[in-house]
Amino acid sequence: MNPKLNALLAKVAAVMHNDHDNISMPQQLSDNSNYCDSKILTNPLALYSRGLSSDKLQNRVHVGIDIGTAYTVLIVLDERMQPMTGEYRFAQFVRDGLVVDSQKAISMVQKLKHIAENRLGFKLSSAATAYPPGVLLTEIKAKQYVVNCAGFECDQSINEPTAANLVLQIKNGAIVDIGGGTTGIAVVNDGHVVYTADEPTGGTHFSLVIAGALNIEFEKAELLKKDPKQHSKIYPLVKPVMEKIGTIVANHLLDQDVSTIYLVGGTSCFIGIGKVIQKVTGITTIIPAYPLFITPLGVAMFNANNDKASY
Ligand SMILES: Nc1ncnc2c1ncn2[C@@H]1O[C@H](COP(=O)(O)OP(=O)(O)OP(=O)(O)O)[C@@H](O)[C@H]1O
Ligand SMILES: [Mg+2]
Repeated sequence: MNPKLNALLAKVAAVMHNDHDNISMPQQLSDNSNYCDSKILTNPLALYSRGLSSDKLQNRVHVGIDIGTAYTVLIVLDERMQPMTGEYRFAQFVRDGLVVDSQKAISMVQKLKHIAENRLGFKLSSAATAYPPGVLLTEIKAKQYVVNCAGFECDQSINEPTAANLVLQIKNGAIVDIGGGTTGIAVVNDGHVVYTADEPTGGTHFSLVIAGALNIEFEKAELLKKDPKQHSKIYPLVKPVMEKIGTIVANHLLDQDVSTIYLVGGTSCFIGIGKVIQKVTGITTIIPAYPLFITPLGVAMFNANNDKASY
């Protein structure tokens, strides 16, 4: 992938893990880039130092909130699309892309907002959110309602694969977002998303299979699965689920002219999944760095464009 994109994603990962020592600007970003501007630092002090008061800062940052089946993620970008802070938590109040417990979802978004505001030293006002392809308008509104109730103005929603492509900026290919509960598929043609689908298989199914095979609790299986050191050991257990996802993807791409698949979403972190998807689909498969944060980052980028279509 583009080294500038990799550097941006590394910075997002650094803010997500509160690794602020690692948020210095990498060397390769010193040229002009869509993603980064080496003159702007990635923390609020950079904006303060440009003489902006906190109420002005409020209007210059961009906030994305991705309420997923497994993780709720909040990312704050500065005016140059640089990550300032971010936070994410495992929480299960969404099923198949639909919010099933609004109160818990609101509390979680409030919590993430509070943490981010304390870190930044100013209030966050507006945010964009995202929805999986194919859901009803009422479901899109339900996620906006959650974000509104948590204290944001939120009238912007973007579909998840389109958000991912704001980050990846691919011209042609397929974006496959393997999240917790679902796998989203989007075909991009000449820079535009021309086909989308969302199927109810994802990382949760990996954990269920691991829990069943090893006779352990789901939560323990989830922890095992997220530990890369365990991947080679549990790979044989989850390979059939990877193959199932590969088959689902292949079926959707049957009539599409796609020569490259880009895997995003947290489940794409499982070592070896790219090779399985490539083998089953017969299509070159690439996994960008830190695939877990690509869609949420795109949602925050979308919040930058206030004149974009709102629902
Ligand atoms: N290092 C890792 N290895 C394997 N799986 C991982 C890793 N890190 C996270 N995951 C899995 O990724 C999934 C979460 O990914 P993501 O945040 O993209 O999903 P989501 O957006 O919450 O769900 P969805 O998009 O389906 O609504 C979980 O199943 C989690 O266990
Ligand atoms: Mg997701």
